[in-house]
Amino acid sequence: MNSSSDVRLSTAAPSETQAIAAAIAGIVTDGDLMVLVGDLGAGKTAFTQGFCAALDVTEPVTSPTFTLANRYEGRLTVNHLDVYRIEALEEARDLALTELLDDGVTLIEWGDVILPALPDDRLDVRITFGEGDDDRVLALTAVGARWTARLDELRAAVGAAA
Ligand SMILES: Nc1ncnc2c1ncn2[C@@H]1O[C@H](COP(=O)(O)OP(=O)(O)OP(=O)(O)O)[C@@H](O)[C@H]1O
Ligand SMILES: [Mg+2]
Repeated sequence: MNSSSDVRLSTAAPSETQAIAAAIAGIVTDGDLMVLVGDLGAGKTAFTQGFCAALDVTEPVTSPTFTLANRYEGRLTVNHLDVYRIEALEEARDLALTELLDDGVTLIEWGDVILPALPDDRLDVRITFGEGDDDRVLALTAVGARWTARLDELRAAVGAAA
């Protein structure tokens, strides 16, 4: 995964991370993929919660660690995966990712673990810890034409939220 990023944003509370996620939710369309990268407790699920709320998902959004994939219906269908426990790439292939990705927008926590099984078009969202307990840095990287073509739109959307 790239160490450089297209957009870097600092947040100082879960609500700020969620506001950025909500802004991104405002520009996604069916078939979009976001890969969420970051250590335990970085805020990948918190990000997904903000994202889903913005799409009017009313169901509670929880970590799908034990189920691997959750599916939420809002203004768009949201597939929420957590592949932390995946042990082999074959398991990722068993998830029928291609079908999932065709049907809704997809967020994959720990998705960097299964990058070879993922399509080249995606937005990487890397969340790292900052100085204070509630400080985070979000680094967004567009990979592939689908997201790079929307970089200006993405910058404007998250810039307005930050
Ligand atoms: N700026 C922030 N952005 C996001 N979460 C924050 C922030 N500050 C504090 N938090 C807290 O950090 C925790 C993030 O937990 P979350 O479950 O979202 O992490 P995760 O990356 O999904 O972890 P896991 O790898 O275990 O799934 C939450 O308790 C959240 O309230
Ligand atoms: Mg999580």
